[in-house]
Amino acid sequence: MVVKLPIPKKDALDHSQQLLEYILFQLRAQHGSLSFASYMALALYTPGLGYYSCGTQKLGAGGDFITAPELSPLFSKSLARQCQQILQTLAGGDIVEIGAGSGKMAAHILLELEKNHSLPAQYYILELSADLKKRQKDTIFSLCPQLLSRVIWLNTLPEKKINGIILANEVLDAMPVHQFKILNHRAYNIHVIEEQHALKYACPHVSDNERTEIELADCLSFSDGYTSEINLNLKPWIFSLSDCLQKGVILLIDYGFPRTEYYHPDRRMGTVMCHYRHYAHSDPFWYPGLQDITAHVDFTAIAEAATEVEMDVLGYCEQAAFLFSCGLADCAEQTMITTQKEKILQNQAIQVLTSPAEMGELFKVIALGRNFDEPLIGFSLIDRRYAL
Ligand SMILES: C[S@@+](CC[C@H](N)C(=O)[O-])C[C@H]1O[C@@H](n2cnc3c(N)ncnc32)[C@H](O)[C@@H]1O
Repeated sequence: MVVKLPIPKKDALDHSQQLLEYILFQLRAQHGSLSFASYMALALYTPGLGYYSCGTQKLGAGGDFITAPELSPLFSKSLARQCQQILQTLAGGDIVEIGAGSGKMAAHILLELEKNHSLPAQYYILELSADLKKRQKDTIFSLCPQLLSRVIWLNTLPEKKINGIILANEVLDAMPVHQFKILNHRAYNIHVIEEQHALKYACPHVSDNERTEIELADCLSFSDGYTSEINLNLKPWIFSLSDCLQKGVILLIDYGFPRTEYYHPDRRMGTVMCHYRHYAHSDPFWYPGLQDITAHVDFTAIAEAATEVEMDVLGYCEQAAFLFSCGLADCAEQTMITTQKEKILQNQAIQVLTSPAEMGELFKVIALGRNFDEPLIGFSLIDRRYAL
């Protein structure tokens, strides 16, 4: 299906052209081709020009997509209940949030924990983008100025191991992925090349020199032409999170599937999607720098990486089950609502967060534990670890 996208304004087009020139420069320096992962990294993270590294609004109604914390404080308040249980079990600790977007999740988690007398010692935010750091500070200052002093912004993961919680909502889907195509039972890395001063996919060449470093589990058998992607950075990333946790839980929330569903024979074109002004489409070369490029998450790969570093998978389920288990309905009841309109808006937000047709089923939550044995409340209704 061809999606008709809104035409960007002149200054946005100029910005994209600048990034395109930079990507073409990099591509020529790499003998005329880039892996898809390198292209995605440049499109999203080139300093000052990449989608996540320039000052444009991405999140929320005026941006390109809406994440759960943007949709309603109920998401973060429910998540806070899970954080509260972990912090209480640990008798205190810190929270580290990675890629904190507008800062709304941090603010609403802190407010809920403050209400329940369970604040973390520190709330660290690891944020790479300077403009998002500023936006996060402004959000926290306007929603809970009394808690701003507890928040510390970091450029890298904490050097000293922490006791506590590491949180990441919709971070993994924004990481560069390698795309591959199956030809003659082998996976070939898909490259990006230049044609008439624009970018396009190269045809994978079937030659031994071009064999990809992509390695997939033997149990997966793909037919010829099958195209998908793999996040080769996922394992080192989980290792680095694990490294900075002495005792506690990593909670990752994102859209994706267990591996058997991810690489299902019917999903022949992979999961790479692009988002611009709330339109979703599948052309990653459309005005680089102006749109988000994402891929779904292989949750089995997360579980495998955790096991390799001797972390326990404490739970895995759909977002709807997790939120209800944490007490979403109770959080909704406790929200101060004065008008019928507010009530309707809150109900609509609950619907989007939990309906199987919206975020309820596609989004999953996985919890990884280190030296943490207590069963987590978020998986009390449903736990699907067996599916990983
Ligand atoms: C889709 S946004 C989600 C923002 C926010 N968590 C939310 O839910 O609204 C993805 C964010 O993850 C960040 N990100 C991606 N990879 C990262 C990494 N390796 N370390 C830190 N942040 C990362 C991006 O810069 C971006 O801000």
